[in-house]
Amino acid sequence: MRNVIILAAGEGKRMKSALPKVLHPLLGRTLVGHVLAAAEEAIGGAATVVVGHGGELVRAHLEQVAPAAVPVTQIEQRGTGHAVRIALDETPELTGTVVVLGGDTPLLRAETLSALVHTHESTKAAATVLTAEVDDPTGLGRIVRNRGGEFVAIVEERDATPAQRGIREINSGVYAFDAERLREMLGKLSTDNDQGEEYLTDVIGLLVEAGAAIVAHRAPDATETLGANDRAQLAGLRALLRDRINDEWMRDGVAIIDPSTTWIDVTVTLARDAVIEPNTHLRGATRIGEGAVVGPDTSLVDVVVGDGATVVRTHALSSEIGPQASVGPFAYLRPGTRLGRKSKIGTFVETKAATVGDGAKVPHLSYVGDAEIGEGTNIGAASVFVNYDGVQKRRSVIGAHARTGADNMFVAPVHIGDGAYTAAGSVITKDVPPGALGVSRAQQRNIEGWVERKRPGTAAAQAARDALAREQNHVTQAQVADVGPRDEQ
Ligand code: UD1
Ligand code: CA
Repeated sequence: MRNVIILAAGEGKRMKSALPKVLHPLLGRTLVGHVLAAAEEAIGGAATVVVGHGGELVRAHLEQVAPAAVPVTQIEQRGTGHAVRIALDETPELTGTVVVLGGDTPLLRAETLSALVHTHESTKAAATVLTAEVDDPTGLGRIVRNRGGEFVAIVEERDATPAQRGIREINSGVYAFDAERLREMLGKLSTDNDQGEEYLTDVIGLLVEAGAAIVAHRAPDATETLGANDRAQLAGLRALLRDRINDEWMRDGVAIIDPSTTWIDVTVTLARDAVIEPNTHLRGATRIGEGAVVGPDTSLVDVVVGDGATVVRTHALSSEIGPQASVGPFAYLRPGTRLGRKSKIGTFVETKAATVGDGAKVPHLSYVGDAEIGEGTNIGAASVFVNYDGVQKRRSVIGAHARTGADNMFVAPVHIGDGAYTAAGSVITKDVPPGALGVSRAQQRNIEGWVERKRPGTAAAQAARDALAREQNHVTQAQVADVGPRDEQ
């Protein structure tokens, strides 16, 4: 039987945050969310999570992302050993292998956890410690080995001799234990150290004293064991994870033009030959189709982009962009937008709860809210779907292959039939039948000579006078030309 205990009761003081440290986000999951996902993949089963600071928030989060996980509350943070003891007290039936890890090591790979468990079980060790060789071991427990390279002890930095401080192999805080031996030694922990805490690392010391076999398993990639104590370190982890994610997608055939400005959540998927232009953020349940081009300067949250679509300088949330559709530059797709195949949402266009049919176009400067636009229809520039009467939102429907004029207001609820036209500048408040032209605007009249009379001496008046004189002149010349050839005959 394999079990997982995640320690997540600490406050993370140096984050200086109302949020408990393990709930800080990192490319698609919280810190503890990453740890839970790796444990789930490598070991499976329901993890026991020790919560304390911000316990209610952490419990609510577990409910969402790992409903099978079992939270156990540690009221006072009396050390890593104390935390594991509480978790084991809650699960007296637990036997076999117990993997213990901190909730703040989000870069740990499932493969590394699997390898740790494999080493532990195949060597029949009482405990196996995941270690790493790091450049800066400050603050971490050091791994002391004998001349033969075998594990001897974990020494906390505060207890280390100057020579031991020079050791660069550190305790990652990730372990596999034999449940029986762990339980036995947890009962013997003292708080006789300068923090007055029960150290989980003392379990290792007690096991060594009892002559049990301890194995140190070195992580192939030291960055996997990194934690974050403050926001600067968290940003460092985020950059490492960004690079790891981008490298994997590039190896899978995605073109990432500028990996240093491309931020892809671990939850996103991309098909091959997708092109991600610089400064692009792909988040949540976003999926990018084959050959689609996304960016530059684009953020997509929970957006499905079809094969061959183009999405340029766009901010989009909870939307679907059909195959070969074109969006942007400067478009804002709000939740519930569904764009058909080869449709177009152009520049300075905002959509919300809107369905745009195959091949339909909203090319310029428009708001399309609570609307349905049929296939092949073109919406004139600067049109607004007037969906809100101040109290209620209502939907409007425009049929297939319609041509609506520029600067239309569609006052919902209104229905425009298939193949209908509307005139530019119309305020459409009534349904337009299929094939009809809807017009709603005042007749134009021109008041001749108004500028000369009302704005005399202005540049406008002068320009008008010059233009009129030129026109008069043309007329006269045309008359002369008309007469000329006849004279020659
Ligand atoms: C511990 C190890 C150290 C190792 C380091 C790796 C001990 C005594 N030392 O250091 O050798 O190099 O981890 O990061 O174990 N936690 C609880 N309840 C508590 C105390 C801690 O849930 O009472 C949780 C924290 O929230 C955190 C994890 O346990 O997720 C590790 O705690 P932390 O205080 O960071 O460990 P250290 O003692 O610094
Ligand atoms: Ca720590």
